[in-house]
Amino acid sequence: MSNFLAPKDSSSSSKSVATSSTNAGAKDISNNSRSRPWVEKWRPEKVEDVSHQDEVVRTLKVSIQAGNLPHLLFHGSPGTGKTTTILAVARALYGPELYKSRILELNASDERGISVIREKVKSFAQGSVGNQRTPGYPCPKFKLIILDEADTMTADAQSALRRVMEAYSRVTRFCLICNYVTRVIEPLASRCAKFRFRPLPVHSMIERITFIGNQEKVNLAPGALDTILSASGGDMRKAVTFLQTSHQLACSSSNITDMTSTSKNAMVTSEMVVDVAGQVPVTVMDELWKKMTGTAFEGMQYAVDKIIAEGYPMSAILSQLHDDTLKKSTISDVNKSLICEKLACADLALADGANEALQLLDVAAYMMRRLKGQTNLVDRLVAAH
Ligand SMILES: Nc1ncnc2c1ncn2[C@@H]1O[C@H](COP(=O)(O)OP(=O)(O)OP(=O)(O)O)[C@@H](O)[C@H]1O
Ligand SMILES: [Mg+2]
Repeated sequence: MSNFLAPKDSSSSSKSVATSSTNAGAKDISNNSRSRPWVEKWRPEKVEDVSHQDEVVRTLKVSIQAGNLPHLLFHGSPGTGKTTTILAVARALYGPELYKSRILELNASDERGISVIREKVKSFAQGSVGNQRTPGYPCPKFKLIILDEADTMTADAQSALRRVMEAYSRVTRFCLICNYVTRVIEPLASRCAKFRFRPLPVHSMIERITFIGNQEKVNLAPGALDTILSASGGDMRKAVTFLQTSHQLACSSSNITDMTSTSKNAMVTSEMVVDVAGQVPVTVMDELWKKMTGTAFEGMQYAVDKIIAEGYPMSAILSQLHDDTLKKSTISDVNKSLICEKLACADLALADGANEALQLLDVAAYMMRRLKGQTNLVDRLVAAH
């Protein structure tokens, strides 16, 4: 369902990379940093450089200045800055020297059962903090335990954490991070100050992607930025990755090995972004729509077979059908809602392992009937109830 819930803002404008002076975090591009993934290379290091999450940033800056922090719970969609923010908070609290010794970071790659809470977390939490200080940093007298992807912790582990959080709150603060806040048990959530990280809106994404594009000397053709934004759906990690991959694709297709000169670099086109993002090209979707609004079932079936044979990801096709349906003024509101429901059911069926070709054919046949204003007996019975 995530595809259907992902916010989209179509108000973005076509523009090539322009200079952005407001972006903080500019760094010299050193030789050895060139090979790093851009998501890591351009991960904001200061809390104030985190785009868009204004309330979170404002509140945390007050906490940093006071040198005090409640237990925290960050939740929200992927790639919106949760991990980045807590790492920046830890850096601002302890400074680069103490930072490593004062935090314990556990993520989904670590064991998440009750034994880890009893041993690793508890023993780190109960240890006292030394008197070392780094000049210029608050260096509060508590340690920080970051439990990233906390929604993957077992219920037992979460229950065990309640007591640990209370018992050692004098010397330890916890930061739980998750995508789905409902998967964190309520007693744990109620011990924390909750911060929701919103998907990034178009203007914040444009600002950040433009900034990174300038620093990395990317040539963006008109429309390419729009495609990056629509393909990433508010996920900054995806947007930065698409920018880097399409830049590499553009340079490699023009046999350019030195990718650090704007004048020499090949142009990143919208088609290249579509390619690296695994999206379905507009021409292919247009063809499918044409067949679905036509009268011949065979024509529609041929278009579906062609899409499946090309190997486009079904999640992208359903997501694009969903967006196109909502945009089309010729489709009535009732039909829009019924089509969206059908798309959601297909998405669920696919998640349960259904056959892609059959699901797409089913969806397309249903849409064909809807678009022609026809309903079959089953539709009528469903509508009657
Ligand atoms: N608000 C933001 N401002 C600037 N860059 C961001 C922001 N959010 C994400 N990014 C970029 O995306 C990358 C991934 O961000 P981060 O790891 O903080 O996401 P997350 O919210 O923890 O995602 P997940 O839920 O998948 O763990 C960062 O390295 C950074 O380059
Ligand atoms: Mg994260």
